[in-house]
Amino acid sequence: MTPSLGTVVVTGAAGRIGTIVRAALRDEARHLVLIDRDHLDVQSPAERVIRLDLANLEAVVSAFDGADVVVHLAGVPDEAPLADLLDANVLGTYHVLEAARRQQVDRVVIASSNRVTGFYPVDTIVDPDDPVRPDGFYGVSKVAIEALARLYADKFALSVVCLRIGSFEDRPDEARYLATWLSPRDCVGFIRAAITAPTVSFVTAYAVSANTRRFWDLDAGIRLGYTPVDNAEEYAAGVAGAEVRTDPHSPQGGGYANADYTLRHIHEHQRARTGPSGPR
Ligand SMILES: NC(=O)c1ccc[n+]([C@@H]2O[C@H](COP(=O)([O-])OP(=O)(O)OC[C@H]3O[C@@H](n4cnc5c(N)ncnc54)[C@H](O)[C@@H]3O)[C@@H](O)[C@H]2O)c1
Repeated sequence: MTPSLGTVVVTGAAGRIGTIVRAALRDEARHLVLIDRDHLDVQSPAERVIRLDLANLEAVVSAFDGADVVVHLAGVPDEAPLADLLDANVLGTYHVLEAARRQQVDRVVIASSNRVTGFYPVDTIVDPDDPVRPDGFYGVSKVAIEALARLYADKFALSVVCLRIGSFEDRPDEARYLATWLSPRDCVGFIRAAITAPTVSFVTAYAVSANTRRFWDLDAGIRLGYTPVDNAEEYAAGVAGAEVRTDPHSPQGGGYANADYTLRHIHEHQRARTGPSGPR
């Protein structure tokens, strides 16, 4: 295949999604710059590996030299103490956007999350324009990331696509995933469309497979140029609890929306500040 995507930088390239994006773009990008704080080996002549922490703005600026597109996946991908999420996700994304601005990158694609709207009930179809209702600190960090991206689009004319990724798994193996699954094939499809869509100022889209039970609107992704092809329903027979009717008022975030899911990180933060015998 003739490379057509120019120089593409992928942050978080050693991660679960980064690994499949890297493989998919290897023959399509003229140069593929792979960034992670973890070790990566070069696997093809088109690849260049840069080991860095996004906390280092000057290193990020230097790594983006010559980049046409940045696919920003690096970050903490689940609930954690808020301070950790602010460092890794919010400040990390600020450095990515700022480096992209300084290096005049054409497009930044950002991994946001469905968890920015996890408190909507499962009987509601949520559109990217609906108000956010994050289901935890992780969702809050992704809300902040989307706001930063919007700021860089409005103020500095940076072209940005935020993809609210569903549950990225090889196959859906728990009941919630029957609604939220994002297959590897559809994940690559959404990211490729986000890279190549013409004339984008700022777009937010849900990246979820065409699941019969989904509760997110697909139109924004389709307008970007990708219509998902996989459907978790094809796996439902093998998923425990698939036949149990979900309470229509329960939150889309499922267990992530439980108070305990966030409280343990509040307690961890408190213990770190006051010691094990401090206030609860
Ligand atoms: N996997 C999912 O189902 C899912 C769902 C919604 C959103 N997302 C988002 O997609 C992105 C990728 O998710 P994933 O599942 O591949 O996560 P992952 O944890 O497998 O990969 C994240 C990668 O980022 C790197 N990283 C983290 N902090 C870094 C830093 N400060 N500097 C440099 N590298 C750093 C890690 O080393 C890791 O390789 C994340 O932003 C996540 O929040 C994932």
